[in-house]
Amino acid sequence: SEACGLQRGDRVTAILPRVPEWWLLNVACMRAGIVFIPGTSQLTAKDISYRLQASKAKCIITNDTLAPAVESVLPGSQFLKSKLIVGQGSRDGWLNLKELLAAASADHQCVKSRSQDPMLIYFTSGTTGFPKMAVHSHSSYGIGFATTGRYWMNLTPSDIMWNTSDTGWVKAAWGSLFAPWICGSCVFVHNMPQFKPEVIAKTLSRYPITAFCTAPTAFRMLVQHDVSSYKFPSLKHCVTGGEALNPEVLVKWKIQTGLDIHEGYGQSETVTICANTKGMKIKPGSLGKALPPYDVQVRGCVSLTIRYFLEMFDCFQDNPEKTAASVRGDFYLTGDRGIMDEEGYVWFVGRADDIINSAGYRIGPFEVESALIEHPAVSDVAVVSSPDPERGEVVKAFIVLAPAFKSHDPEKLIHELQQHVKKVTAPYKYPRKVEFVQDLPKTTTGKIQRNVLKNKEWGRA
Ligand SMILES: *[C@@H]1O[C@H](CO)[C@@H](O)[C@H](O)[C@H]1NC(C)=O
Ligand SMILES: *[C@@H]1O[C@H](CO)[C@@H](O)[C@H](O)[C@H]1NC(C)=O
Repeated sequence: SEACGLQRGDRVTAILPRVPEWWLLNVACMRAGIVFIPGTSQLTAKDISYRLQASKAKCIITNDTLAPAVESVLPGSQFLKSKLIVGQGSRDGWLNLKELLAAASADHQCVKSRSQDPMLIYFTSGTTGFPKMAVHSHSSYGIGFATTGRYWMNLTPSDIMWNTSDTGWVKAAWGSLFAPWICGSCVFVHNMPQFKPEVIAKTLSRYPITAFCTAPTAFRMLVQHDVSSYKFPSLKHCVTGGEALNPEVLVKWKIQTGLDIHEGYGQSETVTICANTKGMKIKPGSLGKALPPYDVQVRGCVSLTIRYFLEMFDCFQDNPEKTAASVRGDFYLTGDRGIMDEEGYVWFVGRADDIINSAGYRIGPFEVESALIEHPAVSDVAVVSSPDPERGEVVKAFIVLAPAFKSHDPEKLIHELQQHVKKVTAPYKYPRKVEFVQDLPKTTTGKIQRNVLKNKEWGRA
C-alpha cells in the first residue's frame, strides 16, 4: 500500500478477470484497512471514469489489456494517485504487482480495523439512474456470510466450491470469497471468457467440485444443452440466485443430474436472506424461507422487507436520500415484490420497477416467463410492460424460439403461446403482444436486462 501511496481508509478499484491475484488483493486490502471496489472487466472507459469519480478511488488495479481504457480517462480523474498492473506487462506510469510483491518485506502488521470500518464497496446498478455505491463494513460482510455458506451453500472444510461469477459482481464476494472462506472450503476458479454449457459440464465431470453455483440463465442453458450423458462424480449441492429460477429448469436439472437446485435470494446490499437449504422441502419457483438471523416480511403492496440487522449494507455512499428511502423503522425495503405462503416460503413476483400494471391487474414478469418457458417452442423469454392506449400498459413477451419452431407460422404460434399461458396461469396474465427475437439483452452474468427492452417499448432508449 505504501508503494501505491495508500493509507488506511483509502479506496482502490480493481477491474480484473478471474485471476488468483483478485483473491490476494481482497485479503491484502482487508488487512491494510483499504476499501476494495471490484468492477467487472466489461466496464467501458465511460463506466470506469464514472466509478473513479464517484468513489474518489486513489488507485486502480487492472491488467495490461484493460489499461488503455483507464489511460483514456486519466485527464478527468483527479483523485487517482497510482495505477497497478496485475500479470505480465509494463507500462509507463504503472506499477506492477509482481515487482511490488518481490520487493515487499516479509513482516507486515495487520491493521486493527473496527467492525464498522468500511471494507468493500459495490456499485449496484438499479434499473434506473446511475449505479449507486453500497458500502459494506468489516462486520457486515465477514460474519454475515456464515449462514449463507453453511446453510445455503452447505459448505464444510471438505468441500470444493465453484461459482462461475465474474469477479466484478457481488456474487463473486458471496460465492467465491467470503462464504467458502468462513466455512474453510476450497474455492475452484475457472477463468472462462464466455459461458459455454459444454465447458461447464466437462469441468464438473473432470474436477472434484462438490458445490456448484451459477446464474439461473446458466442452469437454463445447461438443461437445454442436456447434461444427462455427463457424470458429475463429486457434485452434491447446487445453488443459484441473482434472478428468479423458472421451476421448469429446476425440474429438468433434477431429471438430468438427480440433484436439486437450491435457490436463494439476496441483493448487493445484503447477504443471503432467503434460501432453500439442504434437507428442506423444495417448492419449485420459491425462494425458500428466511435464513437465520433474518426476519423477512411482506408488507403493504407485497413489498419484501427485512428487519434491519448487523449484516446489512451500511449505506448508499453519499446518497442519504436513497438510504433513507430504503429504511423504514427497523426494516429495510428490498424494492422487490414477493408473497409469502402459510409455511413461510417466499415467492418472488418481480422487481418493483418491473411489475406490469395492466388495466388495474398487477402482473409480475417472472410468472409469465415461467409459464412460457414450459412450452417447447420457447428457448428463452423476457416479459416487460408495453404501452397500450386502452389499458395503459400490457404484457409483452420477447421470445427466442427453439430451433425446431423457427419455421412455424408466427401468427399461429403466437396464438398457441397465448392459449398456453391462459391455461397454465391466471388468464389475465397472458402476453397480449409477442415478438420473436434472435436473442435477449443480457448482462455478463446472464441476467436478462428487462429494462433495455422496456425502455425500447416506451421509446426511452
Ligand atoms: C485482461 O482481462 C481481460 C478481461 O477479462 C481479458 O480479456 C484479457 O485477456 C486480460 N489480459 C491479460 C494480459 O491477461
Ligand atoms: C454464482 O455466480 C453467478 C453468476 O455467474 C450468480 O448468478 C450466482 O448467484 C452466484 N452464486 C452465488 C452463491 O453467489
